[in-house]
Amino acid sequence: MAFVEPRAVLTADEIDLSATEFWARPWDEREGAFQTLRRERPMPFYEEPEIPEALSYVIPKGKGYYALTRHAHIAEASRHPEIFQSGRGATSIIDMPEEMLDFFGSMINMDNPRHARLRRIVSAAFNPRMIKSIEDRIELVADDVIDRVADRGACDFVVEVAARLPLEIICDMMGIAAADYDTVFNASNVILSAGDSEYVAPGEDPMVAFMNAAQQLNLLMTDLATYRREHPTEDVTSALVNTNVDGEALTDTEVAAFFILLVVAGNETTRNAISHGLLAMTTYPEQRALWQADPAGIAATGVDEVVRWGSPVIWMRRTVAQDTVLGDVELVEGDKVIMFYNSANRDEDVFADPFTFDVRRDPNPHIGFGAAGPHFCLGAHLARQEIDVMFRHLFERLPDIEAVGEPDRLLSPFINGIKHLDCRFTPAPVAAR
Ligand code: HEM
Repeated sequence: MAFVEPRAVLTADEIDLSATEFWARPWDEREGAFQTLRRERPMPFYEEPEIPEALSYVIPKGKGYYALTRHAHIAEASRHPEIFQSGRGATSIIDMPEEMLDFFGSMINMDNPRHARLRRIVSAAFNPRMIKSIEDRIELVADDVIDRVADRGACDFVVEVAARLPLEIICDMMGIAAADYDTVFNASNVILSAGDSEYVAPGEDPMVAFMNAAQQLNLLMTDLATYRREHPTEDVTSALVNTNVDGEALTDTEVAAFFILLVVAGNETTRNAISHGLLAMTTYPEQRALWQADPAGIAATGVDEVVRWGSPVIWMRRTVAQDTVLGDVELVEGDKVIMFYNSANRDEDVFADPFTFDVRRDPNPHIGFGAAGPHFCLGAHLARQEIDVMFRHLFERLPDIEAVGEPDRLLSPFINGIKHLDCRFTPAPVAAR
């Protein structure tokens, strides 16, 4: 199975985090490489990945970046957003061209005061009443998702189970009709595909596919926002476009960009966390037995261990706004730093036995949702609930569910994704409700 002890087959000089081949290496070799970097060269500098020729006319190759591999350095950068900014060129390695910022220019790629304004409005829409109504909904959707596969005894866990819950919850929260769920699913796959041939056809320009997918989501949401302004309901879209604290509301363009951010930031990440969770619990049956014996008790620590273990978001970028020193590296204005959360989440200085999957790990100061700071994941609470509910219902309804065979991984340096994972279980009846 997939998760084993790190294997250091590369020397620090041989490691190139910008090379696609690096991310195609087996999991244990990647873990070994990051361990080597943390110990020997915690802030290496890399050239940026080559921009495919078809895209080089819109995206010039940048100046390179420092890779932050230690927990302490990432925590420090995240604590100082005035120095380590998100809005200069965006949080991607490349500086986003203007036409992309129309779609992806939401708060994750902003600094104050714009970030604070947007976050305030959006947080109001995620108020406790809203989250309470979502809690009930998560239980229902989880059961419904399980009902769709329960009598079959086997399925593709990622596509049919793990992906469905976060997708349907986000769409539901926003007020997207069920008929449009698959459009959203397919578009978000393309946006985070890193050009993977399963989602972008060979010969198709990945940039065009990417922009088309974003445009599709944009249109869907702009239409809905316009409609909700006149016909408000209890959904988040209505809250965002209508009344808000301080009399502020989002424009249609801001709502659409926020929706794309939610779909991209909230969907694939939670799907991958759940998939890594099943994989890890299949690999380490004694950990699974602990969770299964006491789902309510273990969830309090187990859910965060799943996020630490899977680290679904591999990195985010910051750009240095003024000359500073981080660790023993002097940074100058305009330097890019890439915060490798996956590496921080295995940092031996912070975690005892970092390569052990331990559902009772406590404390667990992982930074899978980002480190403390203004951009800390807006959906962390929701994601935790989704992971908790999904495993509670799976263990109840399909108690012997397990992953079979090797996971089919997404080849991406950014998302620690699993595209497909076969699973099997004793067929169970559809729930009577
Ligand atoms: C296991 C699941 C998830 C993981 C691993 C994850 C990870 C992250 C990370 C690492 C960041 C920090 C970005 C930065 O510092 O630049 C972030 C931000 C964000 N996440 Fe999540 N996320 C998850 C689930 C969700 C969900 C379910 C939602 C939707 C409600 C969501 C919405 C957001 C938003 C809107 C931001 C931007 C916040 C800001 O810039 O102020 N995430 N997430």
